Amino acid sequence: MSEQCVPPASVVLVSGGSRGLGLSIVEDLVGSGLRVATFARSITPELAKLADAEPDRVLAGAVDITDRAATTEFVRTAESSLGPIDALVNNAAIGQDSLHVHTSPDRLANLIEVNLTAPLLLTRLVLRRMLAGGRRGRIVNVTSICARRGFPGLVAYSATKGGMEAATRSLARELRDRALVNCVAPGFFASEMSAVLGTDQLGAIVRRTPTGHLTEPAEVLPVIRMLLLADTNIHGQTITIDGAAGS
Ligand SMILES: NC(=O)c1ccc[n+]([C@@H]2O[C@H](COP(=O)([O-])OP(=O)(O)OC[C@H]3O[C@@H](n4cnc5c(N)ncnc54)[C@H](OP(=O)(O)O)[C@@H]3O)[C@@H](O)[C@H]2O)c1
Repeated sequence: MSEQCVPPASVVLVSGGSRGLGLSIVEDLVGSGLRVATFARSITPELAKLADAEPDRVLAGAVDITDRAATTEFVRTAESSLGPIDALVNNAAIGQDSLHVHTSPDRLANLIEVNLTAPLLLTRLVLRRMLAGGRRGRIVNVTSICARRGFPGLVAYSATKGGMEAATRSLARELRDRALVNCVAPGFFASEMSAVLGTDQLGAIVRRTPTGHLTEPAEVLPVIRMLLLADTNIHGQTITIDGAAGS
């Protein structure tokens, strides 16, 4: 590693690591030798099993990302049990399945709170602690191809993902060399969130995807691992992983 580089991550906070892509990220990073703290509103049996098997390297909590006090407390607990956090993966999010005109004002506000406001606050919290401790680090924001390519039923969701990508570009300029911050933007993959898509919609996505298949979480993991661990100068970028479906 050259002296100018931000060191590879060793203690990572992953939001929404109870299932779907988040659980895969946690498993992958633990397998890569990192210590991982993760939270979701409820802890699934799969996550509990991993935390039980690796008590010195995995901490799992039942925390709602919109609860600022609980989130702050979890970050404190994570640092006392795993060590100072030097990386964050903003993965937790909620989906949408309603035309804009049928989305209630409360639901719209909820989408923005969970997918945009709360990750920005969590980023602020982690960065303040990291920079106060004199550490440099890494941040990966999980966004979506929907930030770039429109999809009906996902107006507010897309706005939050585009917001995170815009914030990432400005944050990179603010942070300079103190932390590397980037986004990964997956295409549609099978999960609880995308289960609302019907066979026709999934078929249409596959047909317009040059690689001929939906994105697999396993295809996203190497990119996140690289952004957290590799000696790179990648900063303020969004890396799209969708088989060119959104181009
Ligand atoms: N699935 C796709 O097609 C797709 C495509 C592109 C991008 N993405 C992005 O990929 C990421 C993971 O999506 P996924 O498909 O794996 O979703 P998922 O299976 O629905 O998992 C979402 C995770 O976030 C947690 N979460 C949701 N609301 C939360 C809250 N208020 N507080 C704390 N944790 C919360 C969930 O746990 P609880 O519900 O227990 O809180 C769960 O662990 C998201 O950022 C999503 O936008 C997904």
